[in-house]
Amino acid sequence: MAFTINVNGQMHSVDVDGDTPLLWVLRDVLGMTGTKFGCGVALCGACTVHVDGVPVRSCITSVQRLGNREVTTIEAIGATPAGARIQKAWLDLEVVQCGYCQSGQIMSASALLASNAHPTDSDIDGAMSGNICRCGTYVRIREAIKQAAGAI
Ligand code: FES
Ligand code: FES
Repeated sequence: MAFTINVNGQMHSVDVDGDTPLLWVLRDVLGMTGTKFGCGVALCGACTVHVDGVPVRSCITSVQRLGNREVTTIEAIGATPAGARIQKAWLDLEVVQCGYCQSGQIMSASALLASNAHPTDSDIDGAMSGNICRCGTYVRIREAIKQAAGAI
């Protein structure tokens, strides 16, 4: 079945089953491989994208549930004010280790900053708790979010 979805401001027609996860559509149909597969069951956060600005796990979001809502992925988050600040801080503080979890981390952090200009430690922990990093970059992630928010 054909679905028309809005990804990063562009309309795409995709011919997939309605229950196909958005993650597969992004990676395998549209070739946008910045969004990562980790667990496939909403437990790791590697697949995080925004739907109308809200962070969602694309591994459990079926394409038929999107409707007209706008999907934003790691490929375009740098074009948003919050995403640009987050990405700069990530580079400044050299947050990334292996990198596998980082697109999901950046998407969650960008959504936090866009909705809360001055997040507290508790806000950061709450927003980022679903994003797992097996390299343990959590301390640098928190610092980078604070830098992006102008708190340090
Ligand atoms: S791959 Fe979606 S949360 Fe892990
Ligand atoms: S940087 Fe390696 S899993 Fe997070």
